[in-house]
Amino acid sequence: MRIFLAGATGVIGSRLLPRLLEDGHDVTAMTRSGERAERLRAAGAVAVVADALDEQAVRAAVEAAAAEAVIHQLTALPKRIDPRRIERDFALNDRLRDEGTRILAAAAGAVGARLIAQSVAFMYEPGPPGTIHDEDDPLLLEPPPSFARTAAAVKSLERTVLAAGGTVLRYGYFYGPGSGVAADGSFAADLRRRRMPVVGRGQGVWSFIHVDDAAAATVSALTAGSGAVYNVVDDDPARVSEWLPALAEAVGAPRPMRVPTFVARLAAGEYGAATMTMSQGASNARARRELGWAPAHRSWREGFRTALG
Ligand SMILES: NC(=O)c1ccc[n+]([C@@H]2O[C@H](COP(=O)([O-])OP(=O)(O)OC[C@H]3O[C@@H](n4cnc5c(N)ncnc54)[C@H](OP(=O)(O)O)[C@@H]3O)[C@@H](O)[C@H]2O)c1
Repeated sequence: MRIFLAGATGVIGSRLLPRLLEDGHDVTAMTRSGERAERLRAAGAVAVVADALDEQAVRAAVEAAAAEAVIHQLTALPKRIDPRRIERDFALNDRLRDEGTRILAAAAGAVGARLIAQSVAFMYEPGPPGTIHDEDDPLLLEPPPSFARTAAAVKSLERTVLAAGGTVLRYGYFYGPGSGVAADGSFAADLRRRRMPVVGRGQGVWSFIHVDDAAAATVSALTAGSGAVYNVVDDDPARVSEWLPALAEAVGAPRPMRVPTFVARLAAGEYGAATMTMSQGASNARARRELGWAPAHRSWREGFRTALG
């Protein structure tokens, strides 16, 4: 297949590109950097230097690639998100999800390419405690003001992709090489400095996905399951009170402290406290069924020990 990969140098893009090339696809890979373009060429891709928000440049690049599939792995987040400054930290990311997605979808439409885009499996409207969300559950209905633009951008991305007949992959929290949850990632650094405690009773539930499993699901989506939304998560949604101490152990950090929720709100803001206490997990049943995909790392319990990178 001729594939246009936006975000080829990112956390997922860099795991995905070698797989696509190994499978014999012709890949045109986009970056903003001439130096990274050289590395993409050396890896075997056709590299294009363009900004994802430059509509004409993206259109021309997708047309020149005569793409049969366009894969959207564009994100722009700092290596460490400051939960008290999410409006600042998510600003460019939100633009990429909103405008960037519209630009890519139009370019894909112009050449009749299949569209696959990255979304998140951790923006569901909270249900009763213990809810594990499937894809039909609503996304956040009334996000707090500081998160409203970000929630709107995720919804906009998904709407745009589905309107184009494309596939939305709602990835869980990444772990593994290049991500924040890696041996050299920001979570490990914060745990080592005892700056990441279990908040409240650690009752927030996270669904993780290893970066290679996210890449594998994306490969599956090239030939299966168009026009739908899929949670791409492992089989083992888990409470913060379980996975955070396990992550600390895996990276050789001291056991995390516990702090009351009101203290976390003061230190990490409403968003920071909510991710630790109110998150809920997601189910991968539909992706397993319709994409013919299954995570190689079925649980973070094994993945944290063997594949953090
Ligand atoms: N589900 C999750 O848990 C999740 C999802 C996303 C990110 N994260 C985390 O966030 C942290 C930072 O990741 P990141 O957001 O920097 O993503 P990244 O995955 O490291 O890279 C972003 C990709 O988007 C491209 N890009 C960004 N803005 C662009 C633009 N204007 N035009 C063209 N290409 C553009 C970058 O290309 P160039 O820079 O080469 O131009 C790069 O390929 C990581 O720790 C990651 O784990 C987590």
